[in-house]
Amino acid sequence: FKKEFPCDLQHNGFIRLKPGNWTVPTHFDKFADEIYQFKFRENDTVVCSCPKAGTTWVQEIIWTMKNNPNLDNPDAKLSQGHRLPYFEMDAHIGTEGPLFDALLSEIESSPGEVKEKEGLFLNTINKFPSPRIIKTHLPITLLPPDTLDCTKFVYVARNPYDVCISGYHYCRLHKDCYYAGTFDQFAQRFMEGNIVHYPFWEHVYSAWKMQNHCNLHFIFYEDLKQDPFKEIEKLNEFLETGLTNEQLKNVVKVTSFSDMKNRGVVAFGVVESPEHMNMEQKEKEGGFLRKGIVGDWKDSRYQETIDKMKIWVIDKMKDMEIPFKYEI
Ligand code: A3P
Repeated sequence: FKKEFPCDLQHNGFIRLKPGNWTVPTHFDKFADEIYQFKFRENDTVVCSCPKAGTTWVQEIIWTMKNNPNLDNPDAKLSQGHRLPYFEMDAHIGTEGPLFDALLSEIESSPGEVKEKEGLFLNTINKFPSPRIIKTHLPITLLPPDTLDCTKFVYVARNPYDVCISGYHYCRLHKDCYYAGTFDQFAQRFMEGNIVHYPFWEHVYSAWKMQNHCNLHFIFYEDLKQDPFKEIEKLNEFLETGLTNEQLKNVVKVTSFSDMKNRGVVAFGVVESPEHMNMEQKEKEGGFLRKGIVGDWKDSRYQETIDKMKIWVIDKMKDMEIPFKYEI
């Protein structure tokens, strides 16, 4: 792997790989070979996305489809960390900060008896019972080359303005990031791909150009928001889950924004407590499940920056046309 993707710049909290300019977690280098050679199982589902595109939502939908379509599974109360493994977690471990301590404690109490810190998560994933629903923010390019031949792959995409705004608030909310810059500064980093798991456009495009592959299903956040039943019905066909209309309605219901918020569903490693989160910020702007809408970018406080982003979008679309929806 290192021969194909030599490491370029060392940044604080992430590193940048030369080809593709992919930004990856600090310890990615250490686990890159293991990640690259990982063997997915045929009945795995991989949920892949740029952070803030709606990953947690789609994970919850697929978990419910496969494990709780009649809403009678008590495991639904478990945190996502216990139900839904995060593929490149090992590459994050060792990054300083309370969030990662919390992550570690969650991993240690998840299935399997893994005591070693190094490679702990990939080991844990291997002990997860099937069917596994594995989350990754790595672009297809950095995943095992046979991924699409081995397993079903769901890619979640969302328009870049709303992703950027969601990311900005996320980074201000969590004490391990504690982003103190302005939205304009954050958007600049976002457009430069200077945030872990980006650049955005190339990330989405690496999946979009594979959209005709029989094992890849592309899902837009905006479509899911507009008509969740229809999108979950499509997932039912793609994943061959064979749910009835009644069961599909159950899935729509328990994965709605309000239901997930009431149940306190958050992404793996997110802890909504004063130790891990800026509670003032949470009060003001919302928690992990912040707004869950399409078109937050129209808010007047972001306009000046959004105008700059529009020029970037037009430029990127020349080479990588992706039919994002900016409103519904
Ligand atoms: P906002 O910050 O715009 O509210 P990810 O899981 O990829 O980190 O994405 C998080 C974003 O998805 C957040 O966006 C969050 O509110 C939104 N989200 C999570 N669950 C959702 C749901 N059930 N319905 C709509 N949006 C949801």
